[in-house]
Amino acid sequence: MGKKVVSAGGVIDGVVELPGDKSISHRYAILAGLAEGTSVISNYSSAADCRSTLECLRGLGIEIEAVQGTVKIAGKGLDGLREPRRTLDAENSGSTMRMLAGVLAGQPFKSTITGDASLRKRPMRRIMEPLRLMGAEIRSAEGDRAPLKIRGGRLHAIDYTPPTPSAQVKSAVLLAGLYADGITTVRESVATRDHTEVALREFGAKLEGSRNMIRIHPRPKLVAQQLTVPSDLSTAVFLIGATLVLPDSSLMLHNVGLNPTRAKVLDFFTSIGAPVKIATVQMRSGELVGDVSVRSAPIDGGAISRSQVAEMIDELPMLAALGPYTEKGIEIHDAQELRVKESDRIAALAEGLRLMGAKVEEFPDGLRVAGRSAGKLRGAKVDPRGDHRIAMALSVAALGAQGETTILDAECVGVSFPEFFQTLDKLRGKEKN
Ligand code: S3P
Repeated sequence: MGKKVVSAGGVIDGVVELPGDKSISHRYAILAGLAEGTSVISNYSSAADCRSTLECLRGLGIEIEAVQGTVKIAGKGLDGLREPRRTLDAENSGSTMRMLAGVLAGQPFKSTITGDASLRKRPMRRIMEPLRLMGAEIRSAEGDRAPLKIRGGRLHAIDYTPPTPSAQVKSAVLLAGLYADGITTVRESVATRDHTEVALREFGAKLEGSRNMIRIHPRPKLVAQQLTVPSDLSTAVFLIGATLVLPDSSLMLHNVGLNPTRAKVLDFFTSIGAPVKIATVQMRSGELVGDVSVRSAPIDGGAISRSQVAEMIDELPMLAALGPYTEKGIEIHDAQELRVKESDRIAALAEGLRLMGAKVEEFPDGLRVAGRSAGKLRGAKVDPRGDHRIAMALSVAALGAQGETTILDAECVGVSFPEFFQTLDKLRGKEKN
C-alpha cells in the first residue's frame, strides 16, 4: 500500500461488525495452546499482531489451522510445549512478547523471543523483573530490550505489584503463575483490562480476588474451549471518531466487546457530549458484548488524566486527534506510557496534528490539542512512524480537513485493523477511492 491519500468529507451511514478484539484473541490463542484438546476460536482478530502470536505458538510445537476468522488450536496441555528450533518472532506485538515470556518462564527449556525494530526498542524490564523473582533466567539486549533469552524452570509463587499499571505485565505474571510452586498474587493500584483473568477462568484455571488483587492457583488442568471473540472496541473507536467528525453521520456497530475494564472510553465520549448508545448487551464466555450506536453531534472536549489513562490507553491517540473537532479541545496528562508504545505516540501525534494545522502543546506526560476556535485543519503529508493507531487517528482527523491528507506507510494499520481504509471508505460511500 505504501502511502494512502485520505480525502475529506462524506457521510457515514451504516452498520458493521468488526473483526475480533486483539487483546482477547492473543489470550484465547495462548490458553488454547496450553489446554488439553482442540479449541475453536471464531471471529479471531485479523490483526497482524494476533498472527504473530499464532506463529510463535507454532514455533513451540502447537498445531494451528486458521481459515479466515476461525482458528483451531490443538492444545497440548500445560507441559506440552516443545523447545523452539528457531527464535520466536513477536514482530510488532508487545502483548505477544510480554505475555508469552510469562509462559516461557515456566518451560523446562531455553527459548529466545525477538521482535521488529519498534518492539526491540520497547521496555522489557517490567516483565523481566517479576519473572526473575519467580526464578526464571532471562538475558536481554542492552537496556533491558528484546531479544529476550529465557531459560525457564521451576518457578516460585510471588506477590507482586507492578510499578506501572500494565495488563501485559499482570498477564505475564499470572501465566507464569500457572507453573509456580504456590499461589501467585498480582496487585494493581489502577485496575487494568482483565481479559487474562476472564479467559483463564473459562479454560478452567482457579483464580480468586477482587478488582485490584488477583491470585492464581498453580497447575490447573486447562480444557479446550469453543469461543467467539467480541469485536474490538479499540478499533471501533476510530469509526466512532469518524462518525463524530463527519456531519449528519450515524453508525451502528454490532457485537462489540464492552468489558468494563475496556469500555471507559464510551463513558468519556458521553461525558464530552458524543451521543453514544449501548443496546442488546449480553455476556459471552465471561466477556460483555453489545451493540454500540453513535451519530455526529457537536462535542465539547475535555481532560484525561490519572486512572483514566490506563483505562483508555489505546484510545488516547483517537481522542487527541478529535481535539480540533471539539469546543474546548482535548488535554491528556499522566500518560508518559504513550511514549513507549509502538511509537512515541505523544511526539507522533503532536507532529502529525501540527502539520495539519492544529494547535498542539506537548508535555512530558501528554498533550493539549486546541479545539475548533484554533481553526480548521488542512490536508498535509504525515508520517505515522509505523504506528497503526497513529495512522488511523490522523486519517480520521483528515476527514474534516480542507483538502487531502497523505498518510505515509499506511499499511501499518494492518498491525491491528487491516480492513481500516476499506471499511472507512465503504461506510462513507467512497469505496472506489
Ligand atoms: C494490552 C495492554 C496494553 C495496551 C496494548 C494491549 C493487552 O498495554 O496498550 O495495546 O492486550 O494486554 P499495557 O498493558 O502495557 O499498558
